[in-house]
Amino acid sequence: MDDASRDPQLDTGGGTRRRFLRFLAASPLLATAGIDLAALERLTSAHDPDDGWRLLHEVERAAQQGLIGAPGDALSVFDFEPVARAKLPAAHFGYMASGVDDDATLRANREGFSRFALRARRLVNVREVDSSMTMFGVRYDTPIFVCPTGSQKMHDPDGDVATARAAKALGHLMMLSGVATSSVEEVNAARGTPVWYQLYPTDVDAVAHAIVRRASKAGCPVLVLTVDLNGGRNTETQLRAGRVDQRDCTRCHTPGVAGYVRRKPMFDGLDVSNATDLGNPSMDWAWVRRCRAVAPQMKLVLKGLVTREDAELAVANGADAIVVSNHGGRAEDSGRSTIESLPEVVGAVRGRIPVLIDGGFRRGSDMLKALALGATAVGIGRPYLWGLAAFGQPGVEAVLTLMQRELHLGMRQMGVQSLRQLGRQFVVPR
Ligand SMILES: Cc1cc2nc3c(=O)[nH]c(=O)nc-3n(C[C@H](O)[C@H](O)[C@H](O)COP(=O)(O)O)c2cc1C
Repeated sequence: MDDASRDPQLDTGGGTRRRFLRFLAASPLLATAGIDLAALERLTSAHDPDDGWRLLHEVERAAQQGLIGAPGDALSVFDFEPVARAKLPAAHFGYMASGVDDDATLRANREGFSRFALRARRLVNVREVDSSMTMFGVRYDTPIFVCPTGSQKMHDPDGDVATARAAKALGHLMMLSGVATSSVEEVNAARGTPVWYQLYPTDVDAVAHAIVRRASKAGCPVLVLTVDLNGGRNTETQLRAGRVDQRDCTRCHTPGVAGYVRRKPMFDGLDVSNATDLGNPSMDWAWVRRCRAVAPQMKLVLKGLVTREDAELAVANGADAIVVSNHGGRAEDSGRSTIESLPEVVGAVRGRIPVLIDGGFRRGSDMLKALALGATAVGIGRPYLWGLAAFGQPGVEAVLTLMQRELHLGMRQMGVQSLRQLGRQFVVPR
């Protein structure tokens, strides 16, 4: 499926259809909507090739949704989502958008923010605000980090490298997915400094340890161990989206772990024939300690904790930081948001290690709530993927810029000069 735009099935209507699409793509309306020939082909790939009128109607409808035509036209990160939807094949957009089961946790991540209100202070000089944060001795101008997300070349030909260039341009901390479609070496070069490496271990320890050694050799200072996908999952929305996608997915996707990692460079040269899972259902705290011993100089961050009990165990087992995360609602359908999980984790950690968070962050006010509740940094996943799919690297930069601008605006509105001043007194439950 990754090579959808080259699907020969699209030419089955012959030259007539392609000429018609070319004619449509030349329309100024569609250009304004950011719809080019490739996007048109994807948008219409599910249609009867001869049904020109229906096609035209569909395209007009997409254009009338008010799709932005350039990254700079966006008023908020939400403006990128419909463009990404229009440009991507249904199955690929479904992969990005999906939660699990009923998508209850996915929705909860957004709804959770409405359970907290901000308390604004007035008459503070906020002409200059400082949103910098420091993690493991490195200072960043922004607390917004780029979450690890897999298979980015399905959204844009440059994928993770485009994201890394955007993170470099704007100084964001970036975590690279263990199932990235670019290697850690390429991404480190694009980011200009080694990124944090997120591990999917598989259930074969030799594979996990070889990947950790490679990330360590590439200079990655931090290993991010994702611990919320060890039990399997049911990405039903993704599977439903796949059903309306008429392309031949078997051209790119083959079953099993070996098939899945075929296009994931971090697995190159590794024997995955015995792996049955990308996560490891037998992972426990002893496993974590063994994994850490493979590269003891790397910091260890556990991504996916949501309870005080596990936060306590993380500290006791030597974790250097925690990411409160439910995988963007893609792990379990607990229906519990990360922002609601944050206070108990922060309470259990008692300042001993940094607590980061992701899940549903789209607005400056969302980030202020998390930072006031004790988070050191806030991650975004889908918003930058919308930007990437819509406009490539400039789209990611525009998303990061909008988030940072909203954060600064929010800090001024709260009467906060630096993130250090944010605390529980700025939030009340609703
Ligand atoms: C398309 C997609 C792919 C993802 N891939 C990974 C991954 O490879 N590793 C990982 O730890 N988390 C992955 N995540 C979860 C993100 O790191 C992050 O926890 C989540 O996206 C944050 O929620 P948000 O998308 O609402 O901002 C992925 C999320 C999405 C949407």
